[in-house]
Amino acid sequence: MKSIISLLLLTALIGTSLSGCLRPVEDTPPVTPDTAEETAPDTTVETEPETAAETDPETAAETDPVTDPVTEPETTVPETEEETEAIAETDPPASETVPPEETEEPDPDAADITVVDGVTYIGGVLIVNKTYSLPETYAPGMNQEAFDALCRMFYDAKVLGYPLKVASSYRSFYDQRYIYNGYVSVNGQAAADRFSARPGHSEHQSGLAFDVDHPDSNALLQSFGDSPVGIWIAENCHKYGFIIRYPQGKEHLTGYMYEPWHVRYLGVELATEVYESGLCLEEFFGITSAYAE
Ligand code: DAL
Ligand code: ZN
Repeated sequence: MKSIISLLLLTALIGTSLSGCLRPVEDTPPVTPDTAEETAPDTTVETEPETAAETDPETAAETDPVTDPVTEPETTVPETEEETEAIAETDPPASETVPPEETEEPDPDAADITVVDGVTYIGGVLIVNKTYSLPETYAPGMNQEAFDALCRMFYDAKVLGYPLKVASSYRSFYDQRYIYNGYVSVNGQAAADRFSARPGHSEHQSGLAFDVDHPDSNALLQSFGDSPVGIWIAENCHKYGFIIRYPQGKEHLTGYMYEPWHVRYLGVELATEVYESGLCLEEFFGITSAYAE
């Protein structure tokens, strides 16, 4: 409610709508993989790689991640490293439950790592990547502080002539499983693992991450990073408490391809520290991002 009121006020002030902030996550227009530009934006599924068959054979077999609808947009099947796209995501069947994957134990030598109810923190900062997972039951929803910060960033960007939308925000363990499985069924697991997190390993499940994009876009593309607003976000998002979580040239450290649209909330102080260090979060904290398998 607080956000809605804030947004309405901001909207009244600016005279235009902050499309991303005002748009409920569920309303986010789904994006399609490689045909995003010419296809209807409602599609994509994701099936879990190794368990796709056990999870929901029928769905996995019959659903085409590229053309069948899914709810939220996320990363897309990258045809090339230059053009990653966003995919849609849908609410997976409530009945689907799969235990989180086992991950490496936190390195006891790493600084200040604690695990509380299965969630890993470093110096109080929630960490989730390929090494550190979130429990299936961890479902905090979108973080209000992060969303408020995002709206402030959207407002300022809009004033500068850069309208934005939220392409994806909070995703449950099950949302992520659905999306990931879809990518795997289309691209294969090895390829999917480069741009989509396995269930329990997505930052979107933390409620602290957002995918942002041009309002009229229906696919998340790496070229967003070269656009004026993409450049502005990269250079300024730390002032609002965000970092570009998967920077260019850091895939060997983050575990994921360049995603100029994926911002992670850390708070202004830490985000600024990370930004000024020039390091990705894994380097900054001295941690790995690799699946245990
Ligand atoms: N695209 C990012 C890595 C995710 O799936 O969370
Ligand atoms: Zn993302």
